[in-house]
Amino acid sequence: MDLRAGLIVADGTVGAGGHSQMIARRIGDTGTLIGIDRDPMMLQIATNVLGQSRQVILHQASYVELENVLKTNNISGVDRVLLDLGLSSDQLSDTSRGFSFQAVGPLDLRFDPRAGQSAKSLLRTATESELERILREYGEDSASHRIAKCLSSRAATKPLETAAELSECIVECLGMTKRDLREKHPATRVFQALRIAVNNELEHVARGVEHVIHRILNPGGIAAVITFHSLEDRIVKQEFRRTNSWQNLTPRPIVATHQEQRVNPRSRSAKLRVARKLIWTEGIGICPMAVDESVCLPPWELPWLWRGRNLPHDARN
Ligand SMILES: C[S@@+](CC[C@H](N)C(=O)[O-])C[C@H]1O[C@@H](n2cnc3c(N)ncnc32)[C@H](O)[C@@H]1O
Repeated sequence: MDLRAGLIVADGTVGAGGHSQMIARRIGDTGTLIGIDRDPMMLQIATNVLGQSRQVILHQASYVELENVLKTNNISGVDRVLLDLGLSSDQLSDTSRGFSFQAVGPLDLRFDPRAGQSAKSLLRTATESELERILREYGEDSASHRIAKCLSSRAATKPLETAAELSECIVECLGMTKRDLREKHPATRVFQALRIAVNNELEHVARGVEHVIHRILNPGGIAAVITFHSLEDRIVKQEFRRTNSWQNLTPRPIVATHQEQRVNPRSRSAKLRVARKLIWTEGIGICPMAVDESVCLPPWELPWLWRGRNLPHDARN
């Protein structure tokens, strides 16, 4: 992310503050770090890790609200923005939230437990066809029809209360044995699908990636997004391919090395994509750095960029 002293950086998914801690070290006392998380528990952890200082501003919000958070703090734009999507290991290991399918706590699955509907309530109120759509679209589950049918009839007889009950119910529905479970647990996709649904995750990713990060970045600023499944990654890939808005710095996503995967098995599905915000400056061209015209590129030097395209009246800035 080319971090340097004095930069203003937004970490839109501050989580336990691991990335933010490293960012804060690099930008130093002259920089500013804005850390956002939807989950009040994670924000508390981040506050403990990062401490309170003039350099660090922490807010409980979704990254889609970053513009308002910046406005409230009189910040007109940021130089770097990071989104590390999905779930943190602290959330996964908190048995009271239902994120892990071994958890005996209530089946909640919300990042912000004060907003929206819990997974338990969704399972009670959704129709069988709604459930099937959720499992198919968000879990990409080939057994979505069977599982939805099972979950619906269970909701009508003895509603599921805990994450552990839900995973047992799925295993029963699919008639699986202990031996089958040594492969990927069938509940993994169902939990992912329900979590995406109750948190409206894809809508947040689409709004955050397609609108917010470009708007809050200063010209020449860099956005980095880490995704954990193909549905999110597709949105980021498509956005960074918009060549009159972004210089895509990772035509292929960066993935974890074997060594990193051994130390952190969850990094196996992580993909990092990075892009630099371009701006179209009337009469000059495409400028990654608005302040320095020497790095602007006129359109005739970028035939690949304009091929089959109108000159950029549609550029966002
Ligand atoms: C993978 S963790 C981030 C870990 C973090 N980078 C670290 O170093 O500790 C993802 C975090 O994003 C948060 N989150 C998910 N959706 C969010 C959203 N729309 N806005 C803000 N935070 C969100 C989750 O609550 C979780 O804490």
